[in-house]
Amino acid sequence: MQPPVIAPSILSADFARLGEEVARVLADGADWIHFDVMDNHYVPNLTIGPQVCEAIVPYAHREGVPAPIDVHLMVEPVDALVPLFAKAGAAGISFHPEASRHVHRTIALIRDHGCRPGLVLNPATPIDWLDDVLGNLDLVLLMSVNPGFGGQAFIPQTLPKIRRVRERLDRHAAETGHTLRLQVDGGVNAGNIGAIAAAGADTFVAGSAIFGQRDADSGYRTAMASLRN
Ligand code: DX5
Ligand code: ZN
Repeated sequence: MQPPVIAPSILSADFARLGEEVARVLADGADWIHFDVMDNHYVPNLTIGPQVCEAIVPYAHREGVPAPIDVHLMVEPVDALVPLFAKAGAAGISFHPEASRHVHRTIALIRDHGCRPGLVLNPATPIDWLDDVLGNLDLVLLMSVNPGFGGQAFIPQTLPKIRRVRERLDRHAAETGHTLRLQVDGGVNAGNIGAIAAAGADTFVAGSAIFGQRDADSGYRTAMASLRN
């Protein structure tokens, strides 16, 4: 398994001070920045696009090193946005397979634009979607809420699903030598992250559990430390 990564979802950050929020959460211990893109079509909410991604790039640094911007596209269709987010500085781009007419082609498009491709499975999406494309992916994202909003409760059926995907990824790694990250997104907090990690996840998205816990003195340090522990 790869070293754990914590990716705060800036969906719950203060949008009026987004650059500062990004810089602060990275200084306080975050690894990646999770960037949620919603289109009021695939999901019933509307958020931010490539221009905002480009605007936060100068703030997405940790000890002088650029921190990856992990773009989660909740949009349909997908392909037209891939070049725009690649140009805007995305390190990885993940999408929902139901939202793309040609999943294999979209994965290749992401790779061709120099980004790491990820496939996102909703709580009710079967893991069979991974069968024919696992070798082309760098990350599998399991949604532990229905996409569209921050601050929802973790759906407990996700835990056995994480275990099943972990087995699948381990088998794939043993057969091919190719390792992928297993990311979980939605309702992750200090109370359940241990169980999520024990089930086999190595990459954790948290929005409200980080940005909802700003401390006047220590910023996000306490929230980050309790997730990390
Ligand atoms: C949900 C988004 C998540 C969300 C996480 O559609 O993809 O990234 O912002 O927020 P919390 O951690 O509050 O569930
Ligand atoms: Zn997300």
